[in-house]
Amino acid sequence: MSKAISGFSKLSKEEKIGWIANEYFSNPEAAAALLKKYWNADAALQQLHDEFIENTITNFYLPLGVAPNFTINGRDYIIPMATEESSVVAAAAKAAKFWSARGGFKATVINTEKIGQVHFIFNGTSEKLQAFFDTVKPKFFEGTQSITANMQKRGGGILDITLRDKTAELHGYYQLHATFDTKNSMGANFINSCLEQFSRILKEEALAYAEFTETEKQVQVVMSILSNYVPNCIVRAEASCPVAELNVDSGIDPQEFASKFLTAVRIAEIEPYRAVTHNKGIMNGIDAVVVATGNDFRAVEAGVHAYASRNGQYGSLSHAKVENGIFTFWLEVPLALGTVGGLTSLHPLVKLSHEMLGNPNADELMQIVAVAGLAQNFAALRSLTTTGIQQGHMKMHLMNILNQLHATENEKLEAVKHFQNNNVSHSAVHSYIDQLRKFDPTTIEKDFLQ
Ligand code: MEV
Repeated sequence: MSKAISGFSKLSKEEKIGWIANEYFSNPEAAAALLKKYWNADAALQQLHDEFIENTITNFYLPLGVAPNFTINGRDYIIPMATEESSVVAAAAKAAKFWSARGGFKATVINTEKIGQVHFIFNGTSEKLQAFFDTVKPKFFEGTQSITANMQKRGGGILDITLRDKTAELHGYYQLHATFDTKNSMGANFINSCLEQFSRILKEEALAYAEFTETEKQVQVVMSILSNYVPNCIVRAEASCPVAELNVDSGIDPQEFASKFLTAVRIAEIEPYRAVTHNKGIMNGIDAVVVATGNDFRAVEAGVHAYASRNGQYGSLSHAKVENGIFTFWLEVPLALGTVGGLTSLHPLVKLSHEMLGNPNADELMQIVAVAGLAQNFAALRSLTTTGIQQGHMKMHLMNILNQLHATENEKLEAVKHFQNNNVSHSAVHSYIDQLRKFDPTTIEKDFLQ
């Protein structure tokens, strides 16, 4: 039977839940109860979250953790991170502590240019279109004054607009390629509003341009949209120390560690299969801070991976070298972030995250986020090239396994003690808990027995 429904969005939240529970669940009462269990008791707070998107039925939790001891450009930070991956925050905190004892991280914003394009089809010669564009170019700036006035007051606005001829790749295809400075906002709404106004001006001016034939006057705008590829919105994060101070663990020679670390980075520079995983580790840190600070992680992900392929082959975002006995590890990433607008003034936990970071401006946030990515990458490579990743990862995953087994608080305490010196695996934890329960059946939670 079809489960199609019309007018779903008009139903109340209760009605939506009722319909879904009945249509899709074998136990509708349990499904509805679970969805409602995640509602916030504070009705106003719940309404705020309900209104972020369409058809909200409940909240979906992600833990918000913090990684302390980050020193960036001489200033101390505790970094909020929203993520579900068990080892990410611990790894960031470990790397932060390691580097804070060695001068901390340095970060620099290289540039902050954002990009938007009007994609259109013109049936005529490119010379004629260029002449038209040169004549009407000032009108794009004049005609967007009402949109740009506030941004200009803040020192931003439209930087430039150029005409790009893409006809070699697609018949009749041209672009208005515009660059923007959006200051402390990510700028998506600002840029898209400007672009849609450009497209109106383009069509009107083409119609009125006496040099155009009737066919040429019919400029066809296909779409107007910002680009999430921002190769001129780059931040660099770096950590360095004498090789001799790379005493990452007792028993591991710093020279040997540095050499293995450099080789691991080199492999990620030349081998796409490894580069993707290497960069995924960087994004573990970047995304967690991007989410906690209310920024658009999909935009960041898309832009970062495009940047990682800018030379024609996907490669590492981070690099490392040893020169004159100094180990340097750095990355450069494109990050279009905002500290005003969007969720930043709406989501209470996002506001809290910004305050925890000292209410950074967009440049400072770019630096913090890039450092979180570099720290994460350092922690991953350190584990991978020494103990292997599973030791730390499974230790952090232990709690998830214990929760799956409905372990009691006592069992968790015992298990954490036991697995400090034993390898964590699903079956090892299972057997250990079984064994505990054989000795002390009273520790088994009631709901586990039912
Ligand atoms: C796991 O989420 C991330 C790592 O795979 C990153 C890496 O391999 O560098 C550990």
